[in-house]
Amino acid sequence: MALRSRPPSSSSPRFSVPFLLLLLLSILLFLSSPSSGHLAPYDALYADGVRAYFAQDWPRAAELLQRCLHSYSGLQGARRECQGACQGQAGFSTGRPPSRPWETGFFERVLQRAECLEECLGRRLGGQPSLHRASAQIRQDFEEREPYNYLQIAFFKLKKLDEAVSSAHTFFVANPQHLQMREDMEKYRRMAGVKAESFRDLEAMPHWVAYEAGIQHYKADDYQQAVTKLEESLKEGLLALEDCRALCEGPQEDEEKAEETQLGLYEAIAAHYIQVLKCRQKCVLDIATKPGRVSSTEDFIPSHFDLLQFAYERTGNWALAAECAATYLQFYPSDGALLEKLKQYQAELGDVPIAARENIRHYVERSLMEKKLIYYAVEHLGETFNDPDSWTPEELIPESMKEKHKEDQEKQRLKAPDVGEQEPREPLAFEGITITMDSQQLNGSQRVVLDRVLTESECKDILRLAKAAGGTEGGYRGRRSPHTPHEKFEGLTVLKALQLAEESTVNWRDAKLLLQASEKSRKIVESYFTPGKDLYFSFTHLVCRTAAEGEQESRMDLSHPVHADNCLLDPEGNTCWREPPAYIYRDYSAILYLNDDFQGGNLFFTEMDAVTVTAEVRPKCGRLVAFSSGGENPHGVWAVTRGRRCAIALWYTLLPEHAEQERARAEELMRQKEAEQEQSHSEEEEHGGAEPSGADSPEPPTPKGRARSTSQRTRSNSDSGIQSTRLRARDEF
Ligand SMILES: *[C@@H]1O[C@H](CO)[C@@H](O)[C@H](O)[C@H]1NC(C)=O
Repeated sequence: MALRSRPPSSSSPRFSVPFLLLLLLSILLFLSSPSSGHLAPYDALYADGVRAYFAQDWPRAAELLQRCLHSYSGLQGARRECQGACQGQAGFSTGRPPSRPWETGFFERVLQRAECLEECLGRRLGGQPSLHRASAQIRQDFEEREPYNYLQIAFFKLKKLDEAVSSAHTFFVANPQHLQMREDMEKYRRMAGVKAESFRDLEAMPHWVAYEAGIQHYKADDYQQAVTKLEESLKEGLLALEDCRALCEGPQEDEEKAEETQLGLYEAIAAHYIQVLKCRQKCVLDIATKPGRVSSTEDFIPSHFDLLQFAYERTGNWALAAECAATYLQFYPSDGALLEKLKQYQAELGDVPIAARENIRHYVERSLMEKKLIYYAVEHLGETFNDPDSWTPEELIPESMKEKHKEDQEKQRLKAPDVGEQEPREPLAFEGITITMDSQQLNGSQRVVLDRVLTESECKDILRLAKAAGGTEGGYRGRRSPHTPHEKFEGLTVLKALQLAEESTVNWRDAKLLLQASEKSRKIVESYFTPGKDLYFSFTHLVCRTAAEGEQESRMDLSHPVHADNCLLDPEGNTCWREPPAYIYRDYSAILYLNDDFQGGNLFFTEMDAVTVTAEVRPKCGRLVAFSSGGENPHGVWAVTRGRRCAIALWYTLLPEHAEQERARAEELMRQKEAEQEQSHSEEEEHGGAEPSGADSPEPPTPKGRARSTSQRTRSNSDSGIQSTRLRARDEF
């Protein structure tokens, strides 16, 4: 804006040399801080942008929202740079032994450092640095990339497709569970004139991009490319870590609390300093967490060296392989496998000394020093600390914490279902059922196909139930499938089936059969996969998908996209994140098929890449497919191109506290009914049959697990066009 200053013409002979120098200096200063005096507080810009958005003033909304993002990153940048610059100018490592009382010397530096920061930030931001403090809610919005949510709509309204798509993509990367945005993304993909390059992450973290590429190459045995990418992600990751750590020296959190407790000088300093140290330690998790994820990749930095040493070995680079092994041992000095490797490398290399990387040695040393101080505060000042690293040496952790640590680990172990193969298992609890394919035949782990779980006539009865329910309110009548416009979708829960039976909409016996069939399946899965451990119902759903007439040519979509049941599949990262909104407590999944008179609709399993099909299963009456619900079993359903495919989808959990409540109510209803029937038999002369209870809510069941809405504000603006949509049941096969 008002920043264009013209250099004075060099042909002005009247100026004296000192004056010229002064002038030059001031120009240089002015130019070297191009953003000085122009950074408006980002929270104010954001508020104005959102206001313009709701006033549908799209050009102004787009401008203000872009400016708030720019201000935000400018502020972060200024804080980082000033922290760095002042460390150099007013650091503590003078090396001079303190000749005065240490306190005066120490605080002199503290004051200088504070002055340096004030001055630097004031210059960079143009004005009081405190103007740039925003509320926790606003900071969270920016961390979750909320402004891009508004921005994409504003750009779309302005017909700026490229910007709209990249904003949408940027938001979606950090909010993969946001269903409205998922739909918008699909629309953008189908829209004419949208280029593939537009789907870019405007806030991409370089180390994640490189890391995922590195892992892909590594898995593909392309070690040359793998080392390039992994070295890059390591370098970028360490830079991101320093950035994150610098921001930890920002304003004290919990200012209100600090005021309340009225700490003395040393207590206050100690409390704030420990807060800074804990924040710095936590940065390890920040950089190890992919945008949009809650859980982090464990041992992000150390594991780089494990991967790298192997990849370097494969490319025949012994020196670097040895260096990486030695570096890994900085974290885990007693790792047997790596110590062995190191010996081999040493033999290979002869006399050449092997040393760990210098920057990592410092990294470990610094981290340990910080941990020591934090643990001191934990032991003596009542602080708490969740160590983000698993390599912290035992002797550093206070005894009192070790106990708790062990307990937690034990809990974790008990919670986790056995992932190891346990086949062959005990004989099945039911006669007549055959194991058609085991894990091996299904080219995977923890999978099984069983046949003859239901008879033909049982299948027919349950199909009749599905059909009758299809025409009612509670059965989700004939909606278009959430996954494809080419299919209609109907579903019925166990409780709903019983309620419909009470209203005499469906046959009581058929409803009971649904209850029995699902219980039989549960027993089978329990005895096959978790003998000796109880398996509880998590959700049961009778589901039919019907191909729509005349829309079936050249269909490319799936009836149900590839997914895993208890984690969020991440094909790029080659991993599966066990975190909400996935149903993380589900441990086993099963589908009991009812018919085969339709085209398409086969179930298939894939690799973690969601693309490579490893096995396929054709549905038929009485066939039960069961598998563990984790990332080892991504699966999907091919399009149903003709006819109607019905199945009972079943999910189970090992955790009783997550057992389905609805199931208990359904069983209760069943018992009541049976008792009533008995009564009415004996009292038939006096009364005229059972009366409908009608006490239970006729509401369709509420699916568990919802899209996390991204902010208070967007939630309340239901007509804004960007409200977060509730996650509809993903309980469909
Ligand atoms: C397992 O893999 C083999 C070889 O690729 C394939 O022929 C077979 O059909 C697969 N099994 C299933 C059940 O799809």
